[in-house]
Amino acid sequence: MALVTSKEMFEKAYNGGYAIGAFNVNNMEIVQGITEACREEKAPVILQVSKGARAYANHTYLVKLVEAAVHECPEIPIVLHLDHGPDFETCKSCIDGGFTSVMIDGSALSFADNIEVTRKVVQYAHDHGVVVEGELGTLAGIEDEVSHAVGSYTRPEEVEEFVSKTGVDSLAIAIGTSHGAYKFKPEQCTLNEQGILVPPALRFDILEEVSKRLPGFPIVLHGSSSVPQEYVKMINAHGGKMPNAIGVPEEQLRQAARLSVCKINIDSDLRLAMTGTIRQFFDEHPDKFDPREYLKPARANIKELVRHKLVDVLGCAGKA
Ligand code: G3H
Ligand code: 13P
Ligand code: ZN
Repeated sequence: MALVTSKEMFEKAYNGGYAIGAFNVNNMEIVQGITEACREEKAPVILQVSKGARAYANHTYLVKLVEAAVHECPEIPIVLHLDHGPDFETCKSCIDGGFTSVMIDGSALSFADNIEVTRKVVQYAHDHGVVVEGELGTLAGIEDEVSHAVGSYTRPEEVEEFVSKTGVDSLAIAIGTSHGAYKFKPEQCTLNEQGILVPPALRFDILEEVSKRLPGFPIVLHGSSSVPQEYVKMINAHGGKMPNAIGVPEEQLRQAARLSVCKINIDSDLRLAMTGTIRQFFDEHPDKFDPREYLKPARANIKELVRHKLVDVLGCAGKA
C-alpha cells in the first residue's frame, strides 16, 4: 500500500469508537519500532514529523525512512503527517515533498489570523490531495517550540465557524492535555488507595460540546503521553533526574477514543522508553560502545510500548 491520507482512517475510527495513534519519528529505530508493532497488530498508523525532526534528521531522510516502512509493511495504511506546522511555507514544503497530511498550528494567533492561515494551507493542500489538521485553543506545558507556558481550553462556540471558514479535515482541541513529561504538578493531583498520584480529569464536557457542534467530525488530542512510571523509574535509577513526571491516565485516553477523538498524539512516552532503556544499558554495560547494541533494546521497548498503546489505549489493533 502506498502512503495514504487519514480521511478513510478517521471515518472508520469515528464510527468504530477507536483512535489512530500518531507517533513522532526522528530516526530509523523509532520508525521501525512503531511500524513493526503496527504491522504485527494490524493497526493503521500516522507517522508524524515536527519542524524539529526535519531540522535534526533532514526532510528527505525522514520521507525515505517512512517510504521504507511502507515497503516493509504493505498490509497497513500509513500516513505521513507534518506535526505543528508553524507557517504556510513549511506546510507547502511538506505537501510538495511527499507528505499526505499536514497540521497548520495557528493556535497562538488571533482567531481571525488562525482562520486566515489555516484556510490558505487548506486550499493548497486540497489542490494537492493532502489533508489538513487545524488547532483551536492552546496546550499548556513547555516543550521546544510547540507549547505555551499557560494553556487555554478550546471555546466550543468557536469551532463551527473555524471549521466552516477554513475547510480543515480535523481539529485539535485543548481539553487539559499538554506536551512533554511534566503535564501536571503533584499538588494538582490526588493520591489514590495504591499511593499513585491521579491528575485532574480531562475536560470531557468541552469535548462533548465540540462534538455536538461538529457531528461526525474527527477531533485530535495532542499532548497525550501517559508518562509510564516504569520508564521514569528506570531513568531515575540509572543516573537520570526526572522528578514528578506525570502524564494523562490511559483510561481517559481510551474514553476519548470511544468518543469523537480519532487521532491521539504520543511522543514523550517513546522518548522515555528509549532514554530509559539506553541509560540502563550503559549502567549495566559500561564497557560497550557499539550503537547497535544499545539501540536494539531501545527499539524493542518502543515496539512493545506502541503495541500496548494500540491494543489497550487506542483500540485500533486489528483495524488495518
Ligand atoms: O508536540 C511536539 C512533539 O512532541 C514534537 O516535539 O518539537 O521536540 O520534535 P519536537
Ligand atoms: P506528548 O508530549 O504528550 O507525547 O505529545 C506529543 C504531541 O502532541 C505531538 O504533537
Ligand atoms: Zn502536539
